[in-house]
Amino acid sequence: MAKKVNNKQKNITKVEAPIVEALQQAFDSPSYQFHIPGHTRGIGVLKDFRNLIGSKALKVDTTDEFDNLGTLTPPTGAIARAEELAAKAFGAERTFFLLNGSTVGNLSLAMGITKKGQKILTNRNCHRSLLTGMIISGAEPVWLIPEKLEDWGLWGCINPEKIEHLLKTTKDVGAVWITNPTYEGVISDIKTISKICNKYNVPLIVDEAHGSLWNFNKSFPTPALQLGADAVVQSLHKTGGSMSQSSMLHIAKNSKLDVNKIERALKLLHTTSPSLILLASLDAARANLSSETGQKQIERTINNAKYLRKRLDKMQNIHQLKSDFGFKTDITKVFVKIDGLSGKRLESILEIDFNIEVESASDIGALMLVNIGNKRSEIKYLADCLEKITQTDYSDIYHLENKKHMPMLIPNIKYNLRDAFYMEKEIIKKENAVGRISGEVIAECPPGIAILLPGELITKEHLPYLTDYEEIEVIKE
Ligand SMILES: Cc1ncc(COP(=O)(O)O)c(C=O)c1O
Repeated sequence: MAKKVNNKQKNITKVEAPIVEALQQAFDSPSYQFHIPGHTRGIGVLKDFRNLIGSKALKVDTTDEFDNLGTLTPPTGAIARAEELAAKAFGAERTFFLLNGSTVGNLSLAMGITKKGQKILTNRNCHRSLLTGMIISGAEPVWLIPEKLEDWGLWGCINPEKIEHLLKTTKDVGAVWITNPTYEGVISDIKTISKICNKYNVPLIVDEAHGSLWNFNKSFPTPALQLGADAVVQSLHKTGGSMSQSSMLHIAKNSKLDVNKIERALKLLHTTSPSLILLASLDAARANLSSETGQKQIERTINNAKYLRKRLDKMQNIHQLKSDFGFKTDITKVFVKIDGLSGKRLESILEIDFNIEVESASDIGALMLVNIGNKRSEIKYLADCLEKITQTDYSDIYHLENKKHMPMLIPNIKYNLRDAFYMEKEIIKKENAVGRISGEVIAECPPGIAILLPGELITKEHLPYLTDYEEIEVIKE
C-alpha cells in the first residue's frame, strides 16, 4: 500500500516495507536481550569486524520470534505482511521469502511436488539445486537439450516442440522445469511452453533466478508468472537489490501445484533462525523496485546497458551476444568475446590492469552485469577499458591450459540419479576415471551447471572440464 508523505523538497510516494519498519522499531526501543544471537547487539564480536560492518548492522542482527518481528515459518506479523505485499507486486497468489537463495526454492519445489520415479523435463543447463532436489525426492530428470550457440560456447534457448515431443512420449511427467533466462541472458519462449504444458496438464516451473527485475519494467522480457508458469523462483539478491542469499519463490494464481506441499517441504529445509536483516532486505528490495526511486534506477540501468552495447558495437574485434542473432536476450547481461583473447584472459586483464571484476568468464567470453546500482561513469569506464583492450596486443597463453568452463556435454546416463548418489563409491585418480560412472555432482559455480551427475558415464570429453580435479568419486565396480 502506498502512502504520500510530505518531504521538504517535494511529495514522494513512500512504499510500505513492514519488516524494515518493524526492525527500525526494535532498534529504536531495545529490550534487555537474553536470547540468540549471542553476540547481543554486537558486543560479543571481534572489534575489527564490528568496525567493518558497523555497530548498527549488528544491533539489527536478530532472528524471528523476538521483538514483535513476526515469524517466517509459518509467516506471521510483519513477515507475513511483507510476503503478501511481495505476492501482490509480483502478481503471485503466494510468495515465500527464501534465505538459502533460490537454491532452497528449487529444493522445496522438488521435495514438495515431485515423487520417486516421476519424470521431470528440464534443460541440461539447469542449476544444480534442482538436481539436488531430485536426489532428495527420487524424481528423474529427462533432459531437454537446448540449442547450442557454438560460436559463443553457450547454451541457447529451448525449442518448445522438443518439450511437446517429450510430453507426448514420456509417461508420468511431474513437471516441466525451465531455466529462463540463462545465466548469460538467453530467453526461451515461455508463453508457448506454458500453452504446451497446459495442453498436457503438466505444471510448469520456471527458474527465473536471473530475472527478478523483469516485473518492474516493460522493456524487459515478460516474467514467467504473467505467461502461465505455475511457480517461479527468483534470486532477488542477484539483480533485484536484496542482500546475498535472499530470494523469493512465487506460486501463481490458479497454480496446478499444491502450495501446502511446497510450504511443508520449505519448512523442513529452511533455517529455524532466519536472519531479519536478510528478510528486511527482501522487503526493502520489493519496496524499492515498486517505488519511484526504484523505477528510476531501473530506467537508468536499461539506458546504461544500451549505452554500453552501443559503445561495443562501434569497437573493432569485440563481439557481444544480443538479440539480433535470432533469439531474445536480457539487455543487462552483456556477454562479450574479443578476437584472439580467451574469456578468462579478458577477465584477468580487466581485473589486474583495470581493477574491474566481472560476473564470470569462460574459455570464450566474459559476462558483465549492468546493475541497478551501477553509475553511468562506471559503465563509461568499463567501455573505455574494453576499447583499450581491443586496441592493445595482449597475448593469451590461457588456451595452452586446454581448460573448458561451460559444460555443454550430452550425458550418457547409466543409473538413476538418486540411486547412484546412494550407491557404494570409491575415490580414484582422475586419469583412471574415463569409462567409470560418476558418483558425485560436479557442477562448478558459477554457473552451477552439471559437468557430471551421479550415474553418468565419464568420457574423455569431460577431462577439459576437470582440470582442477585430481580425484573423482565413482560408483564402486
Ligand atoms: C539458474 C539458477 N538457478 C538457481 C540458482 C541458485 O540461486 P542462489 O544462488 O540464489 O541459491 C542459480 C545460481 O547461480 C542459478 O544460476
